[in-house]
Amino acid sequence: MNRIGMGLVGAGFVGPHHVDAVRRLGFVDIVAVAGSTDESGQSKAEALGARKGYGSYQALLDDPDVHVVHNATPNHLHYEVTSAALARGKHVVSDKPLAMTAAQAKRLVNEAQRAGVVAAVTFNYRGNPMVQQARTVIARGDLGTPHFLYGHYLQDWLLKDTDYSWRLDPEKGGPSSALGDIGSHWCDLAQHVTGLRITHVLGDISTVIKKRKKPLGSRDAFQAGTGDEVDVVDIRVEDLACVLVRFDNGARGSFSVGQVCGGHKNDLMLEVCGAKASLRWRQEAQNELWIGRHDRPNEVMMKDPGLVSPDARKYVHLPGGHQESWADAFRNLMQDAYTWIAAGGRPEDKPGMLPTFEDGYRSTCLVEAMLESAAKGGVWQDVAYVAGGAR
Ligand SMILES: NC(=O)c1ccc[n+]([C@@H]2O[C@H](COP(=O)([O-])OP(=O)(O)OC[C@H]3O[C@@H](n4cnc5c(N)ncnc54)[C@H](O)[C@@H]3O)[C@@H](O)[C@H]2O)c1
Repeated sequence: MNRIGMGLVGAGFVGPHHVDAVRRLGFVDIVAVAGSTDESGQSKAEALGARKGYGSYQALLDDPDVHVVHNATPNHLHYEVTSAALARGKHVVSDKPLAMTAAQAKRLVNEAQRAGVVAAVTFNYRGNPMVQQARTVIARGDLGTPHFLYGHYLQDWLLKDTDYSWRLDPEKGGPSSALGDIGSHWCDLAQHVTGLRITHVLGDISTVIKKRKKPLGSRDAFQAGTGDEVDVVDIRVEDLACVLVRFDNGARGSFSVGQVCGGHKNDLMLEVCGAKASLRWRQEAQNELWIGRHDRPNEVMMKDPGLVSPDARKYVHLPGGHQESWADAFRNLMQDAYTWIAAGGRPEDKPGMLPTFEDGYRSTCLVEAMLESAAKGGVWQDVAYVAGGAR
């Protein structure tokens, strides 16, 4: 297999996990890292064991050894970095959200299609083997037709008014915080696992902490306040939301998201109730799948390569009882993206698990519909998604 060169733009919290994940594939070279200055590009390249460090993403894009660009910058840079990478014919792995608005995301879908490259987005929970097991079980009809999906994605890293991130600044994070950052994952998971599409939403959003102490120095995401000098700023995006959803088969659903829920660290949960049985997956106990039954005892299925379906087995790397994790699911997403790239990236060869720019665009449409519903006082809102047929 020819070796593939990877370049990373944005080495904060999640960027290094992109590097770890692709390094584990065995046929990818970590060619370069770009920071926003020469100094940060160099030091981050050194820290991550990349061959070259650049002071701008444009310099990284000019490097012919970089075949795949990973965009792990803050949201406001997603469109410009990804668009520039596509214009140079690079494959792209973009962190979610694909862009700040649905209009920008749609443009990226079209640009990727014109470039004829692989264009993936990091809805990484799909890469968990028990998520793939859930998908198989639902597709083969074990639950019967789904009629109710519910769940949540709760975190506590913004619980105090001293917690601050660029995600709370609409100029950098976009018009939504909790819904765009983590609600997007719940919606993608629910749709991916069931094959259903969310068509209508009704959102109730709120900002629990209305003023926060923003440090004057910079810090990467998820770092606690350090007592630096601060500005007190008004918060205009939501840190809590409850959403009702309807699916294209008539199923109903609801989910809540919050970044201010003490003790919930990365508590993503999805339950699907169907005509015959129910199924639940929790990120914080991600090696298990709960199956609920009416007429016989419930089960908890443990991840085990000998027990999961063949579709899920290729995402299992350890024997039963050996816990696999967030980083392993992230690696699985990269495995599918790079295997597809190595095989020529033809649309008909797209791995079924891999989330693409089309999924990223759908996600931005959903978030916009939820914000619009809430702005109108909580009314049902159609999701204005126009299928692009792009990969
Ligand atoms: N898929 C997931 O589960 C997941 C998890 C975390 C973050 N994310 C996404 O990843 C993106 C980054 O999030 P994060 O938590 O790593 O944020 P972060 O703030 O920790 O990191 C962003 C990095 O980008 C760098 N940067 C800023 N401007 C740049 C520029 N012009 N050129 C190069 N680098 C630049 C910053 O210095 C920082 O190191 C966000 O869009 C976020 O939504 C996805």
